[in-house]
Amino acid sequence: MNVCVVGTGYVGLVTGACFAEFGVKVVCADNNEQKIAALERGEIPIYEPGLDQLVARNESAGRLSFTTDTGQAIRDALVVFIAVGTPPREDGSTDLSYVEAVAREIGRAMDGYKVVVTKSTVPVGTSAKVKGWIEDELSRAGKRARFSVASNPEFLREGAAIQDFMRPDRVVIGAEDEEALAILKDLYRPLYLISAPFVVTNIPTAELTKYAANAFLATKISFINEIANLCERIDADVHDLARGIGLDGRIGQKFLHPGPGYGGSCFPKDTSSAAHFARELGSPLEIIEAVIRVNDRQRARMVEKISETLGGRVAGKSIGVLGLSFKPETDDLRDAPSVDILRALLDRGAKVQAYDPAAMAEFEKILPQVRLVANEYEACEGADALVIMTEWNQFRMLDLERVKAGLRSPVVVDLRNVYEPVAMREAGFTYSCVGR
Ligand SMILES: NC(=O)c1ccc[n+]([C@@H]2O[C@H](COP(=O)([O-])OP(=O)(O)OC[C@H]3O[C@@H](n4cnc5c(N)ncnc54)[C@H](O)[C@@H]3O)[C@@H](O)[C@H]2O)c1
Repeated sequence: MNVCVVGTGYVGLVTGACFAEFGVKVVCADNNEQKIAALERGEIPIYEPGLDQLVARNESAGRLSFTTDTGQAIRDALVVFIAVGTPPREDGSTDLSYVEAVAREIGRAMDGYKVVVTKSTVPVGTSAKVKGWIEDELSRAGKRARFSVASNPEFLREGAAIQDFMRPDRVVIGAEDEEALAILKDLYRPLYLISAPFVVTNIPTAELTKYAANAFLATKISFINEIANLCERIDADVHDLARGIGLDGRIGQKFLHPGPGYGGSCFPKDTSSAAHFARELGSPLEIIEAVIRVNDRQRARMVEKISETLGGRVAGKSIGVLGLSFKPETDDLRDAPSVDILRALLDRGAKVQAYDPAAMAEFEKILPQVRLVANEYEACEGADALVIMTEWNQFRMLDLERVKAGLRSPVVVDLRNVYEPVAMREAGFTYSCVGR
């Protein structure tokens, strides 16, 4: 079976490489010539643990290749995955122009039966639009071709993407005919063999499942952040509280970690998109709308927290920052809390010096006023406070004596609750964190 994945970003590249690992012949197509040229030279354009070896292994085995000739890759494939971006518009709705461009390209290239699978996260009803765009191109060209559309949303997490693809909690497939379903089940057979759960349903359910999953996780984060803020008022410890509720199996312990709010390429845009399309469908998601408001407020609260810890003013102060990516083990800065928080600190007249193990090259393009430094200890040098923004593992066991020696005053604002408040205070730091 030949597979074409259109869009060679986080999702497309991981999907393509993992299907190739299953033994399928995969062509990853992208219209970004530089990206494809880099991949052909053996360079991986994103930071994702293990991906370089996976790509190299499958490329040299002849199962994985890259192209900018999307039309040819589509013609050669039985299954075509759409894995392009679906960025948010100003009003929170989803920009489907990339999906439409690919669907139309599929229509123009179509020369025989294909299964067209939407893997991008798309509002309910998009697969029906994909079908319409393909039919439109077929009729413009006076062609007739049989095809199926399906929805197969992706749940992988950046930083653990390969593991998530190879050992998923579940695979969701929305299909409208048995032929497409049989082909997709065949493609995913290696996961059936390891007993990964499959949820087979209709297309709107599959599309909505992705949004409901992300919205639920975002809800847990905003929930614990609000509770953490309340904990600060009453001298309660949100970690003990999170354990106290999370040990209830109905609640679960995951995603109850307070911090600067959720970010990244998925939760912010997916919650806004779901709120938007649900409103348009006349069935507002009021909980999700509140979750978004709480998340926005949490970022602003973190700016206040840093300011308060520094005595109420950040103007003229030098702030060292550890971590910029929206979470550890990724270089992704899309909607990262660091961007909003550091921009606000700069606006208030602070000087910022920061270190991140993977995201600095990209960050420099976004906020060039931030001075980027070579390591965690350089970020402390001469700073009035150290802010822990992202909990990379290497920030969990800092040499605190070296941190203290580098800082102008021993102030640590730990937005990820990496350190123990009592131990930090005993070590002589003015220490603040979230909800404890
Ligand atoms: N990143 C994640 O963790 C994640 C997880 C689950 C789902 N998703 C969803 O998957 C989709 C893709 O996300 P991503 O993070 O991989 O995006 P990305 O921006 O990393 O990659 C998208 C790629 O599509 C390419 N592209 C755009 N238009 C094209 C066209 N007409 N022809 C060929 N290539 C084209 C771009 O050049 C880019 O390389 C989004 O809908 C996203 O919401 C992402």
